[in-house]
Amino acid sequence: MSRKAYRMVQKTDVVVGYRTYVDLLEEVISSDQEIFSTGMKGEVERAEKAIEFSGNGKDVAVVSSGDPGVYGMAGLIVELVEKRGLGIEPKIVPGITSASAAAASLGAPLTNDFAAVSLSDLLTPWKKIKERLAGAAEGDFVTALYNPRSKKRKEQIEIARKIFLRHRNPKTPVGIVRSAKRGKEEKTIVVLDTMLEPEIDMLTTVIIGNSRTYVAGDTMVTPRGYEL
Ligand SMILES: C[S@@+](CC[C@H](N)C(=O)[O-])C[C@H]1O[C@@H](n2cnc3c(N)ncnc32)[C@H](O)[C@@H]1O
Repeated sequence: MSRKAYRMVQKTDVVVGYRTYVDLLEEVISSDQEIFSTGMKGEVERAEKAIEFSGNGKDVAVVSSGDPGVYGMAGLIVELVEKRGLGIEPKIVPGITSASAAAASLGAPLTNDFAAVSLSDLLTPWKKIKERLAGAAEGDFVTALYNPRSKKRKEQIEIARKIFLRHRNPKTPVGIVRSAKRGKEEKTIVVLDTMLEPEIDMLTTVIIGNSRTYVAGDTMVTPRGYEL
């Protein structure tokens, strides 16, 4: 969390969020604060409830993991407020997105141009995701894959790997970080060829290096371009 987010969550009357994330805030939230949490896919319900609380004069914190503006709740709240002409001004407090958290654990893989692609096709058509993967691969962007594989959605990461193999060396380093900076972090550095061997799930961020990314010891680094 950013320090500002930590302080903001402590100050509000109500905290709204996905159950798992609210549980992670145990040390931040006090018993005086009201909690509204739901399970997965309850985003619209949570946003509407937050707006309702706000309309009743309460200060509300809507929490996401990482950064709320990166595949998080910020966009949904802003869209709903704007579409309904509610006249509320949501404050978006930045956090630390998984790509940054995972990169810090791996070394410095994002030191040059990078792209982020979510492999979840719940809200974006799979055809569009494949086009974006191809663009990132062809453009030699280091690429952070969010939502890489779920229990039901296993094929997308395999297709993503094939798309990258069309443009990148099979020995390109790939960093895989699970639960980055959450205590039970697991990380591994493999190569594009073998990137499907380690366990990858919805708590994981995968970072595929660019043509210049290399591994030094147990770190993965993408040169910025300095002559050393
Ligand atoms: C819906 S996105 C939310 C992203 C979040 N707003 C952010 O900025 O990191 C969920 C995906 O983020 C990634 N993620 C979230 N927390 C993570 C963590 N602690 N370690 C690794 N990946 C994480 C995973 O790829 C997960 O499937």
